[in-house]
Amino acid sequence: MGVTPKIAPSMLSSDFANLASEAKRMLDFGADWLHMDIMDGHFVPNLTIGAPVIESLRKHTKAYLDCHLMVTNPIDYVEPMGKAGASGFTFHVEVSKENWQELIGIIKSKGMRPGVALKPGTPIEEVYPLIDSENPVEMVLVMTVEPGFGGQKFMPEMMDKVSTLRKKYPSLDIEVDGGLGPSTIEMAASAGANCIVAGSSVFGAPEPGAVISLMRKSVSENQEKY
Ligand code: DX5
Ligand code: ZN
Repeated sequence: MGVTPKIAPSMLSSDFANLASEAKRMLDFGADWLHMDIMDGHFVPNLTIGAPVIESLRKHTKAYLDCHLMVTNPIDYVEPMGKAGASGFTFHVEVSKENWQELIGIIKSKGMRPGVALKPGTPIEEVYPLIDSENPVEMVLVMTVEPGFGGQKFMPEMMDKVSTLRKKYPSLDIEVDGGLGPSTIEMAASAGANCIVAGSSVFGAPEPGAVISLMRKSVSENQEKY
């Protein structure tokens, strides 16, 4: 078993006017990745950032930029995101049923790591072909809130998806996103999640570093069981 904890503060909860310093602050607090929420105002009812902002941030940091594409046409974003310096490119399975093979291929050819995300209403079986493929995704992001906004309540019923995935794929990176923090991390970590996205619980904490270490500890202790 070889998965390692990746704690990824969601920059959606940061002060966008000071993105570079907010990123540095999180890395200094011990963040492994920076989670970047790309929204198009169509796939989700909110509009955030795109490739130009990733490109600007890339000039200030070498960190792994874990990009979560909440967009209707992910394929249109692959080239610009690759050029901008994205590290991971996670697209939603709900909008990629016809072209996920092509998407994975192009994402890799642009030097990024492909991941697939699923909304709370999407059954876990829908991502199996993408993991079992000859050219597979390297991470599955299980949404634990409806995508679109930070600060929502964690959905514990999504943990069945995480534990089913972990049993089937012991060395897969499994990410959870939405409502994660000190009060919910144990549920996610014990189900088998190792990549943890957290926005409001980290940025809103008096000591973000303490929240990051607590989450890492919970993941490490639980991963020993697998
Ligand atoms: C929601 C985004 C999340 C969000 C998480 O659509 O994908 O990454 O920023 O924020 P919290 O941790 O506050 O739920
Ligand atoms: Zn996200």
